Amino acid sequence: MGVAKLALALLHVVAVASTPTVRRATASEYKALPYYPAPFGGWVDEWTSSYAKAKKLVDSMTLAEKTNITAGTGLFMGYVQHNASDRVGFPQLCLNDAANGVRQTDNVTVFPDGITAGATFDKNLLYQRGAAIGKEARGKGVNVWLGPSVGPLGRKPKGGRNWEGFGADPVLQAVGARQTIKGIQEQGVIATIKHLIGNEQEMYRRQTTDVVSPAYSANIDDRTLHELYLWPFAEAVRTGVGAAMTAYNRVNGTTSSENSYLINGLLKDELGFQGFVMTDWLSQITGVGSALAGMDMSMPGDPLIPLFGNSLWMHELTRATLNGSVPMDRLNDMATRIVASWYQLGQDRSFPEVNFDTNTKNAVGPLYPAAWPNSPQGTVNKFVAVQADHDKVARQIAQDAITMLKNKDELLPISADRPLYVFGTGAQANSDGPNACADRNCNKGTLGQGWGSGTVDYMYLDDPIGAIKEEAEKVTFYNTDKFPSVPKPTEDDVAIVFITSDSGENQYTVEGNHGDRDASRLNAWHNGDALVKAAAAKYTNVIVVAHTVGPLVLEEWIDLPSVKSVLIAHLPGQEAGKSLTNVLFGSVSPSGHLPYSITHAEDDMPASVVDLIDSGFIDPPQDTYSEGLYIDYRWLNKEKIRPRYAFGHGLSYTNFSYTKATIKKVTQLDTYPPSRQDKEGVLDYSQDIPDYQEAVKPKDFKTIWRYLYSWLSESDAKAAAEKAKTSKYNYPDGYSATQKTVSPRAGGAQGGNAALWDEAYHLSVVVTNTGKDFSGKASVQAYVQFPDGNGYDTPVIQLRDFEKTAELAPGEKEEVKISLTRKDLSVWDVKTQDWVVPEVDGAYKVWLGGASDDLTVVCYVDELSCEETTKGPVVYA
Ligand SMILES: *[C@@H]1O[C@H](CO)[C@@H](O)[C@H](O)[C@H]1NC(C)=O
Ligand SMILES: *[C@@H]1O[C@H](CO)[C@@H](O)[C@H](O)[C@H]1NC(C)=O
Ligand SMILES: *[C@@H]1O[C@H](CO)[C@@H](O)[C@H](O)[C@H]1NC(C)=O
Ligand SMILES: *[C@@H]1O[C@H](CO)[C@@H](O)[C@H](O)[C@H]1NC(C)=O
Ligand SMILES: *[C@@H]1O[C@H](CO)[C@@H](O)[C@H](O)[C@H]1NC(C)=O
Ligand SMILES: *[C@@H]1O[C@H](CO)[C@@H](O)[C@H](O)[C@H]1NC(C)=O
Repeated sequence: MGVAKLALALLHVVAVASTPTVRRATASEYKALPYYPAPFGGWVDEWTSSYAKAKKLVDSMTLAEKTNITAGTGLFMGYVQHNASDRVGFPQLCLNDAANGVRQTDNVTVFPDGITAGATFDKNLLYQRGAAIGKEARGKGVNVWLGPSVGPLGRKPKGGRNWEGFGADPVLQAVGARQTIKGIQEQGVIATIKHLIGNEQEMYRRQTTDVVSPAYSANIDDRTLHELYLWPFAEAVRTGVGAAMTAYNRVNGTTSSENSYLINGLLKDELGFQGFVMTDWLSQITGVGSALAGMDMSMPGDPLIPLFGNSLWMHELTRATLNGSVPMDRLNDMATRIVASWYQLGQDRSFPEVNFDTNTKNAVGPLYPAAWPNSPQGTVNKFVAVQADHDKVARQIAQDAITMLKNKDELLPISADRPLYVFGTGAQANSDGPNACADRNCNKGTLGQGWGSGTVDYMYLDDPIGAIKEEAEKVTFYNTDKFPSVPKPTEDDVAIVFITSDSGENQYTVEGNHGDRDASRLNAWHNGDALVKAAAAKYTNVIVVAHTVGPLVLEEWIDLPSVKSVLIAHLPGQEAGKSLTNVLFGSVSPSGHLPYSITHAEDDMPASVVDLIDSGFIDPPQDTYSEGLYIDYRWLNKEKIRPRYAFGHGLSYTNFSYTKATIKKVTQLDTYPPSRQDKEGVLDYSQDIPDYQEAVKPKDFKTIWRYLYSWLSESDAKAAAEKAKTSKYNYPDGYSATQKTVSPRAGGAQGGNAALWDEAYHLSVVVTNTGKDFSGKASVQAYVQFPDGNGYDTPVIQLRDFEKTAELAPGEKEEVKISLTRKDLSVWDVKTQDWVVPEVDGAYKVWLGGASDDLTVVCYVDELSCEETTKGPVVYA
């Protein structure tokens, strides 16, 4: 199927083929238990009609037609869209990145990255971003958009791809994912929740060849997995996401794409996922093993070493089915899941054809680039413009994400007639062009995105210096990161210093950083800290603007008296200029909030998240989540370590009060949720192995060189069918082909037991703009504190919901509503394997306010009352 639009652009193709094996972790207490067989899809009400249609279509397919739709046609196989089955009329599907738009094509919008969208703390903007990306994907003919990313969650501050997701908290990620998926899928485009799971570091994530670099194992205990890392996946499944992608790394010793506990057990059974699961690009390690473990689609179809016309599926999956190793009901379920998602999103009714090719910018090019030099030429790019007015929402998000950390003497906003001295190469777009580096794999000029497969090509980059010059009259720009010689400043002069910190995907090393920020650590790049200090030594009014993928350590300069204002502008995408000047010159107040904590020192976080794990060379490195639930603010609060700027912090030009809070019980909870719904209406996928002739390539079919097909030769097909009678596959321990009769008690609907989303409490609070001069938007963040001595070790506070107000004029009020579900008040109980409310109607506190360390209202669940307070829940040493 797939016009395998590429998630990886550069591959280190190793010439020596090796036979990969599934390695086991040496951290023996972490085990990937067997979970077989793969649970069938089709038992969730919302999908019933799509499954009925899909089953009918799949039932009409031959064996080779079924295996043909479960894998890509090969890396770099180009854009031409065939039918994966002409006979039954099922089209090839186009799968394409990125995390912030449509990757490697023209005439699209570069949206702000996920971390920027997260920093808005604005559900509506998160949704609008998704809708706009979905429209662009559809316009280009992308059936399956490979986002959003919620894994990595942001456990490691130096982790390379945290910026693709929404921030270092499961609820922030979950809401980001939900709103994005809603927006994407309302356009009829299938969204993909990724990467399942534990991809919290880039280095050593992949098994490139077996010996050279075995992938690390993320060792995660059950409770931590449920309460942190799986939480956003559950929300995505509940939203009806059509696809999921596994990670490169192992989990508990077993590669994600082979991990039956993860895919069959957690994703498909407990979370009731009805869509299809694909591998990340070139991460499939075994054919039969991954099929049994629950994988439904192999992307891009090649094994670890691509471009030789080999596949672990396609013809091999045909063989594995004919020889009886992969049961027919497993293949039928795979194919049905894929076709059902296509129906579910209405793609059978109409969907634009693919009209671009990620391999070239020319109109005409090779139709099948990987068939080089034998590919025919043809039109591959039609330059369909899909941006519409999406620059508006992109700019709004970039602007509303800008997070003001500090504003001494109310230096900001500045008036446009003050003399401005601007420093730093980050203020101006890369002079070689904003797309000069493939997948933005350099940090040159304005940093609008991280690097790697989660990036989009710019049509333009509205850079800060351009926008500043448009607004202000007296602007002097020093396009350098080394402090130049400047005229003696006056009291009125203002210096604006631009600094950056970049990270990305591991296939590129940028300025010594291997994806993760292993070289730069949490310091600004290009000696940015020295640049700030030099400016602060000279000028009395310094504003620092940081474009950054994540937290920085600011201690070298944050307390210098002349560093009066600091703005974190995150990764704004193409709209970096006007979004910033709107804030600088005061046409709007900043309203972004930190989607992570900024600490005084890197080591203020636990060593298990600070230290990047190193290669074990032969043995897989072990990334053990020994900190458990205690990442980011959960760790700092527990250890009473005062952050420099807390999770959720963000100042405004005005002030807000939070008053007149109310809390109301909506659903009477019990210790456990009501029992799950049974699985009903599961279709019958069983079937005898068809005649081997269904697998034989038609004699007159002209193949394309290196293209992946699902056929076998007549003699191979016949031999495979013989094998089914004579030999048996050596199945993994714990394997069974019979569907389980007992399902996980925490399951029952998409995302888990539907009762977990029962609204337990409604809260409201009146937010008033108490300032005199500026309008602004306030964020209301709601953190739950579990009752003391509830029998479970729980973090001091945990974000559970948030809302942003409209723009409030001075004196204006808004009543903001917050809602808490049963799940929000539950912990994952490893013994019962269920969500438990440790104290029904107990002394829970719900804290409301503008940041995790600025919670001025508390509501009591046991008393159903609220009060204003000066004593927050967090006490530092
Ligand atoms: C990993 O191992 C831990 C410890 O045995 C267990 O609690 C957890 O459920 C396992 N997770 C997966 C995904 O296998
Ligand atoms: C599989 O799909 C390819 C297009 O990718 C098509 O040429 C071929 O005919 C299909 N095979 C079968 C068995 O339908
Ligand atoms: C694919 O099949 C559909 C339905 O049979 C047909 O209308 C369409 O023309 C085919 N597309 C191609 C590229 O052959
Ligand atoms: C069936 O074919 C698959 C794919 O080539 C292979 O991995 C498996 O070992 C074969 N099974 C038997 C019993 O030979
Ligand atoms: C954008 O689309 C227009 C019109 O379709 C086309 O002329 C132009 O070349 C495209 N731009 C780029 C950069 O490809
Ligand atoms: C906001 O409140 C703080 C603390 O009361 C005060 O110092 C500051 O001046 C106020 N700022 C504005 C813009 O009203």
